[in-house]
Amino acid sequence: MLITFEGIDGAGKSTQIKKLAAYLKQEGHEVLTLREPGGTEVAEKIRLILLESRHEISPVGELLLFSASRAELVSEVVRPALAEGRTVILDRFFDSTTAYQGYGRGLDLNMLRTLIAISTGALTPDITFYLDILPEEALIRKFSEKSLPLAFENEELDRMERSGLEFYRNVHQGYLDIIEAEPGRFKSINARHGVQEIHACIVKTLKERLQDRS
Ligand code: TYD
Repeated sequence: MLITFEGIDGAGKSTQIKKLAAYLKQEGHEVLTLREPGGTEVAEKIRLILLESRHEISPVGELLLFSASRAELVSEVVRPALAEGRTVILDRFFDSTTAYQGYGRGLDLNMLRTLIAISTGALTPDITFYLDILPEEALIRKFSEKSLPLAFENEELDRMERSGLEFYRNVHQGYLDIIEAEPGRFKSINARHGVQEIHACIVKTLKERLQDRS
């Protein structure tokens, strides 16, 4: 089973992923947790270029780098793990590309679809949890986590985080459109709810989906 998590930076995905992985392990699942970009030696190098570098990267270049990282992760790690019957939890997958490079950077959505199909070999998650939060709130969380003042040009932010509020507003709208187009795959959860409440909702949804499948 492939479970993915999406949301704008600061929505609280990592906390929920840790809790879900612990829960599933306890239930006897063999769980593999991964994040994008990254997850193989090559993909981690691409991650450094994308997030840590001080270089300017063009929107198309950025798209191709995220796609290259994804192609490596899917073929080297995700597909083999799924074939062994493991449950894979991914912190971001191709919906991030649609939201960030499509809606955020303004790249053509049809071109993105083609590239996503190539980089994933058309692998689709069984379920995607979207943690919904307004960009303003998410960024305040993110900045305060890092004890930083609210300024997008701050050196300590990664390359994507320096993109500005307008960018994040477009990304947020992107997620809303993606979910509307594919309601069956998504479970959207209000990220303002408490950690435990969100976890309980995730577990409940997963149980329901598993029941529907059997
Ligand atoms: P990361 O440090 O993993 O942070 P988080 O997921 O907690 O926000 O950063 C990944 C960044 O890369 C994040 O800003 C989203 C962005 N991203 C894209 O723009 N496109 C993509 O396809 C993916 C996977 C991520």
